[in-house]
Amino acid sequence: MADSTPDTARLIIGDQEIELPIIRGREGDAAVDIRGLRGKTGYITYDPGLGNTGSCTSEITYLNGEEGILRYSGYPIEELAKQSSFLEVAWLLFKRELPSRDELQAFEKEVIYHSMVHEDLKRFFSSLPKAGHPMAICAATVGAISTFYEAVRYEDPDDEHWAAAIRLLAKMPTIAAYSYKHSVGQPFMYPRNELSYAANTLYMMFGTPCEAYDPDPVVVRALDLLLILHADHEQNCSTSTVRTVGSSHANMFASVSAGISALWGPLHGGANEKVIEMLIAIRDGDRSASEFMELAKDKNSPVRLMGFGHRVYKNYDPRARILKKACHDVLSRTGTSNPLLEIALELEDIALADPYFVERKLYPNVDFYSGLIYQALGIPVEMFTVFFALGRMPGWIAQWLEFHRDQDAKINRPRQVYLGHETRSYVALDER
Ligand code: CMC
Repeated sequence: MADSTPDTARLIIGDQEIELPIIRGREGDAAVDIRGLRGKTGYITYDPGLGNTGSCTSEITYLNGEEGILRYSGYPIEELAKQSSFLEVAWLLFKRELPSRDELQAFEKEVIYHSMVHEDLKRFFSSLPKAGHPMAICAATVGAISTFYEAVRYEDPDDEHWAAAIRLLAKMPTIAAYSYKHSVGQPFMYPRNELSYAANTLYMMFGTPCEAYDPDPVVVRALDLLLILHADHEQNCSTSTVRTVGSSHANMFASVSAGISALWGPLHGGANEKVIEMLIAIRDGDRSASEFMELAKDKNSPVRLMGFGHRVYKNYDPRARILKKACHDVLSRTGTSNPLLEIALELEDIALADPYFVERKLYPNVDFYSGLIYQALGIPVEMFTVFFALGRMPGWIAQWLEFHRDQDAKINRPRQVYLGHETRSYVALDER
């Protein structure tokens, strides 16, 4: 599209014709710039779900849903999954370049150094119900930790943003692990600074003061892979939420806390939990796989095939492809089996041969296989979406930072088409 893309688009409304500039993306993507539309014509655009709306320009992630391509700052997700580490990917998302060895070491040290949370924060966890969903606990805690830094003043806003970025990235594993420890009534474990990011996360989740716990390297690597694959996904629901909240100049903690809440929903990150519930229901004989598929296609039923379909991917999600293979690897390397994997494979086979799914281009997404790996790593189902949030943290931060440096950025404030009552006079209570 790039070479043949015109510089302007012409829009005809009644007897008015206007020209709108076209913005070209790096990879042949293009957008009609409608910023002048309302001023010139009085019209706005109508796009529920914003599927045709570019809310920003970005240099962070490239996603081509038709071809199933995902790249962070130019690097294919497949290469990063094989060769990189989560913190290296975080740096890449923040800086758009891979770090040198020295830069990476210093960054890892800085992050791990900030992983401990304030002692007083522990009381915050204990004030919440043990059965409370950990996503609610994490969203509340991430918002709350901003209170510890309100009095810290920085002359340069970039320094303040970097400090917030490091703290969020560093403390999220601790917060995630504490949300779990609180639910099972075990003591909170302090981070161990000699461990890697993923190993520390597992240690704080599964270690206890009673006995030594050394995370299994296979499990550590599998978790690191999951975090890399979730690190960013351009303008998805939670990232758009982070940008929107940040657009009011709310601080990074508040913005990311809102992003965690957005991620929780079952149409977004919460799908990984729902996939396992669906597979368990099929395993336990509530419904056969084919009965389930019939329900998922029935427009009168609310059932959807969880972990299938995507707003942007109209092809196999490249993250799901990597995770499907990783699932087999992890199960064989940990010497475990999982009958749910067989059910997932059966569902995928049925769906990919079914005209309903084929015509609508519905393929497995990142959530279809991730839960099976989390299960193999011993992570409880209600923590799956928390691990998604842990992985997405660098993306949320990078997008927040990018928004704050964007000359075109404004407070997000969409318009609407009003369909309510016309003007009418107030009727006193006695006269109604
Ligand atoms: N099962 C059955 N039908 C589906 C599914 C599904 N999983 N997904 C989409 N459809 C149908 C939908 O009913 C519609 O049919 P029709 O054209 O006849 O009305 C058509 O496919 C298009 O779907 P849509 O809902 O208009 O598409 P969307 O882009 O608004 O929604 C989605 C995308 C991810 C919310 C949706 O595919 C879905 O609900 N999937 C299941 C939940 C899920 O796995 N979410 C994780 C998404 S990926 C990771 C992340 O973002 O967190």
